[in-house]
Amino acid sequence: MERKETPGNDHLLRVYDSILGLLSSEENPTPLVRLHRVVPFKHTQVYAKLEWYNPFGAVKDRVAANLVRDAEEKGLLGPGKHLVEPTSGNTGLGLAMIANTRGYTVRTPLSRKIPVEKRAVLRVFGCEVVELDDNLCPAPGAPEGAIALAKATAEREPGFHMLNQYENEANPDAHFRTTGPEVWRQTGGKVTHFFAGMGTCGTITGTGRYLKSRNKDVRVWGVHPAEGHDIPGVRSIRQLAQTKLFHPEEYDGMVEVHDEEAYRMAIRLNREESVMAGPSSALALCGALKKVEDAPGNVVVIIFPDNMFKYASSMMRHFPDMFPRDPEDAGAERGPSEDEQFLAQLLGHAANRHNTVEIDDVTRMLGSAERPVLVDVRAPEVFASAHVQGAVNVPLERLAERGTALPEDRKTPIVTVCNVGQMSVTGLMMLRALGYERVHSMNGGTVGWLQRGLPVERGG
Ligand SMILES: Cc1ncc(COP(=O)(O)O)c(C=O)c1O
Repeated sequence: MERKETPGNDHLLRVYDSILGLLSSEENPTPLVRLHRVVPFKHTQVYAKLEWYNPFGAVKDRVAANLVRDAEEKGLLGPGKHLVEPTSGNTGLGLAMIANTRGYTVRTPLSRKIPVEKRAVLRVFGCEVVELDDNLCPAPGAPEGAIALAKATAEREPGFHMLNQYENEANPDAHFRTTGPEVWRQTGGKVTHFFAGMGTCGTITGTGRYLKSRNKDVRVWGVHPAEGHDIPGVRSIRQLAQTKLFHPEEYDGMVEVHDEEAYRMAIRLNREESVMAGPSSALALCGALKKVEDAPGNVVVIIFPDNMFKYASSMMRHFPDMFPRDPEDAGAERGPSEDEQFLAQLLGHAANRHNTVEIDDVTRMLGSAERPVLVDVRAPEVFASAHVQGAVNVPLERLAERGTALPEDRKTPIVTVCNVGQMSVTGLMMLRALGYERVHSMNGGTVGWLQRGLPVERGG
């Protein structure tokens, strides 16, 4: 087949003008690797498309590059602009690197439940990470969470733009332009089945559209985890209903895979195929093995979004026996200690309605003669990213120290504030223990405050 070369990049010698030359395309596709040992077929050929061969390590590099290209072409981005994007990790990683090459900064609000590996690397790449108490996947429309905070930032803070991978057609378009044509060309048009795990659904929607445009008989299947899953990057049916790019009417079907099956298959892929796939790759493969029959001519392509290196902590959770435990930690296996149970009880009591106040109560209190001091107990970098106007920052771990911004008079009314109203309850308990008599914790936190359009400030 004739090779098209991009000027400045030599894909044959793998010499590139810049890192962006490595972005995948029909001329520079990510590898398709045939699987042998984990598939039970005699005739059906199963290929994994290894997306960690993208320059920043995941399928999302394609999307990040296309979102930025599209926004620049529409005049929405330019010098000095800041990006804000809620992400479960991979889009943020790709976007951070694309942004570095283009001179934009990136702020990414995300759930604290995202694997620590991704949160750490985002910081290394230069992202401003705002960690939130949220579900594993940021859910559009959720009352508290990364998407709400990112939208509020883009609407209220000058210079910020949200590309919004959950709604932006440039997301599936990235796959229509690249993933689809690559699969078509790499299989010589012989692909019969395409499987992808579903997160934003950019991959399945965009690649599916392209493949069906070439051959309407290609079967396109979406794979989703069960409700309450622990697989980063993909969504259960309930979570998918909130994603605008989810178009089940365009797919041939959907199949559910449980955590246990996916994690066991991840181990098999690594050990038996030497393919260092992560959990969402294994999920997609499990889905394919449930639906595809063994028949001559079947050529199955499965997207493997990223590799195992990001999921050490997930594997430790799912295979505790694989990891030797420090003997000093062995007590943790016995369940919560008496002290921990006592603390949990105390926190339960503290969260009752006599100790917490609603945002409307706080705005009323601020307008009254006995104006409370607002004490934001979050980490300084999170406080600096956005906080309730007039709040002072005393992080939880510093509440008991001398010389903080806490009032001397123990009778001063205080309202504690955090992201959503959980850490602030701990703050309330600590302040009570320090002798403050009139402390309340604000339900809804800074995220709720932002959602109501109430005034916020940035900086330390
Ligand atoms: C690890 C991983 N797997 C699967 C997906 C799903 O891809 P898509 O968002 O295109 O549906 C993602 C997307 O973030 C991901 O990060």
